[in-house]
Amino acid sequence: MSPSPARGRAGGKVILLGEHAVVYGRPAVASGVPLALEVEAARGAGPALEGDLPDDPRGQALVAEAARALGLRAGDWVVRVRSEIPPGQGLGSSAALCVATLRALAAAADPPVHVADELTLARGLEGIFHGTPSGIDPAASALGSTFRFVRGDPPSIEPIALGAPVTLVLALDAAPRSTGSAVGGLRARWQADRPRYERLFDAVAEVVEAGAAALRRGDLAALGLALDRNQELLEALGVSSPEIARRVEAARAAGALGAKLTGGGAGGAVLALVREVHADALARVLAADGSRTIRVALAGPPPAKVS
Ligand code: MEV
Repeated sequence: MSPSPARGRAGGKVILLGEHAVVYGRPAVASGVPLALEVEAARGAGPALEGDLPDDPRGQALVAEAARALGLRAGDWVVRVRSEIPPGQGLGSSAALCVATLRALAAAADPPVHVADELTLARGLEGIFHGTPSGIDPAASALGSTFRFVRGDPPSIEPIALGAPVTLVLALDAAPRSTGSAVGGLRARWQADRPRYERLFDAVAEVVEAGAAALRRGDLAALGLALDRNQELLEALGVSSPEIARRVEAARAAGALGAKLTGGGAGGAVLALVREVHADALARVLAADGSRTIRVALAGPPPAKVS
């Protein structure tokens, strides 16, 4: 029996371009952000999840399924969570919880479990929170850097080397919302009119490729245009909200190069791209407008190892 609790960490994420369409096989670009979630797994009367998260029965299911996926007895584990990731904002709190819980349980087992395919296991666990995840959220949460993603078994994950520093200001929503209901609502609309939604997903895919190329070139103006075009398409998909549209406009009026929702939508954080020198001014205007703001700098792929 493992004598002491073991820890697992994972990070928050932003989807820069392509959320929702990525569920339907189109490419998307995401990045980890430096907001940490830490989980401590210990033997106890479980399965149980405690700590910094809304009281949610799905937490218990997560601990049980994560333990089983690692070949452990579900009833033996209690998991405690400490998180800097604001929940219900589209910033990856559920995905980070899935990844960190797997990491902590794998380390707490005696002997520790080697997790060969963390991303596939984490995507399966994310299904507890919303039915048809693409897997992009746990990938961003586990990797921490910026990448182009296409779902699949295995998914295609292509690291993006940033041609220039990318600074974002995130403007949070006053109330949390649910990715599950945004994803489910879009699925029902897609089932009712597939040709219309498939055309919109194709248009999103073009914007994603243009934005990925702009990221590689370091062309922030072109990236901003891609974000704005993506927001228009997200509105056409029906996953934005009047409150998001209002914060997007406020960000653009205050000097953002482009702005859009991020993640599941239907509320949640707005992501605004800004030149670094203007980031504090933009954050001040958005805070005066009533939003809590978080400033993040995106990371490119980790440097190659020199042997
Ligand atoms: C949520 O962060 C991103 C969605 O595309 C869902 C998913 O890809 O699993 C809305």
